[in-house]
Amino acid sequence: MASLFGPLPHVVRLLDAGAGAGALTAAFVTHVCGKPNGVLSIEATLHELDPLIQDALLETMRDCQRRCAKAGIQFSFNIRQSDFIQEMSASLEDNWFGTKAPVFDAAIVNPPYRKIGMESPERRSLRQIGIETSNLYAGFIALTQRLLVPGGQLVAITPRSFCNGPYFNHFRENLLANLELHRLHVFESRGAAFREDSVLQENIIFHAVKGRNQPRDLVISSSSGEQGGKVAEDTIPFAEIVNENDPEKFIHIPSGAGHASAKKAMDKLNTTLASLGVTVSTGRVVDFRLKDALRMKPQAGTVPLLYPCHFNLISAIEMVGKVSLSE
Ligand SMILES: C[S@@+](CC[C@H](N)C(=O)[O-])C[C@H]1O[C@@H](n2cnc3c(N)ncnc32)[C@H](O)[C@@H]1O
Repeated sequence: MASLFGPLPHVVRLLDAGAGAGALTAAFVTHVCGKPNGVLSIEATLHELDPLIQDALLETMRDCQRRCAKAGIQFSFNIRQSDFIQEMSASLEDNWFGTKAPVFDAAIVNPPYRKIGMESPERRSLRQIGIETSNLYAGFIALTQRLLVPGGQLVAITPRSFCNGPYFNHFRENLLANLELHRLHVFESRGAAFREDSVLQENIIFHAVKGRNQPRDLVISSSSGEQGGKVAEDTIPFAEIVNENDPEKFIHIPSGAGHASAKKAMDKLNTTLASLGVTVSTGRVVDFRLKDALRMKPQAGTVPLLYPCHFNLISAIEMVGKVSLSE
């Protein structure tokens, strides 16, 4: 994750929200010390709520300080044992006390994942500043985005669930309006990335830059998620990842050779079932009870009869129009 950052300013104000024992800041420090590229100083701010991990976090930061000193880089840190959501929402809110929100040039984040109910304190705090989301991780990312300076960079590992689905519409719209996606990395196995913690989750790593002009192309990479696994990389036009005509702004991540051709075919099917006057029925339609209604060739008023095997997207597209069921 640390290696995904582009050029950094001389003084890097770094945010690690949900820092745990500081592994990500440590990775950032290792990366910058290895290739400073003009970085003279790192000012790290780490938010971590858990009291039990504070000692380990402090120890990691002291180690970062030692390593930076050896590389001739200044390192200072500020550990905040506070709720990132509550504290940052309050500081971003226009309030009479005039508390100022901090600003950052770079953020490296592995936020906590948890659903947050409509009336939870986190949800209410976020709502105060116009962020509406049902999962803690999306709240962390939305806040982090606001705390970055223009051109500031974010590298995050999160669940992949925000890429589609109506629950994340608001979050996605906001993300794509304020962050330029430069790189996405996906894991082939759901279990590999956090196997030690028994987390079965489809994760994504992304590198984004605060700004309003999405790049023409972005790099999509994938790996098994196992330590030292090979990374496959491809450069894809942004327009293929997010279709500009899609009101829901789904983020399509190609993974596998068949995906691109299936997506191309699907993109041509730009009507909804409702606009075709078709509804979906599951369970009640059984071919052997409806033999009279089956047609071998499509005709006016017939619709495709889909079997479970057609849920393989490619065969579904190939099948459309081959087997039909009369209304
Ligand atoms: C998924 S872990 C990531 C830890 C670390 N960044 C890493 O990658 O190893 C998320 C961390 O966020 C912390 N956390 C959870 N809710 C928080 C909150 N509201 N504010 C600050 N930290 C929080 C948890 O205690 C946990 O250590």
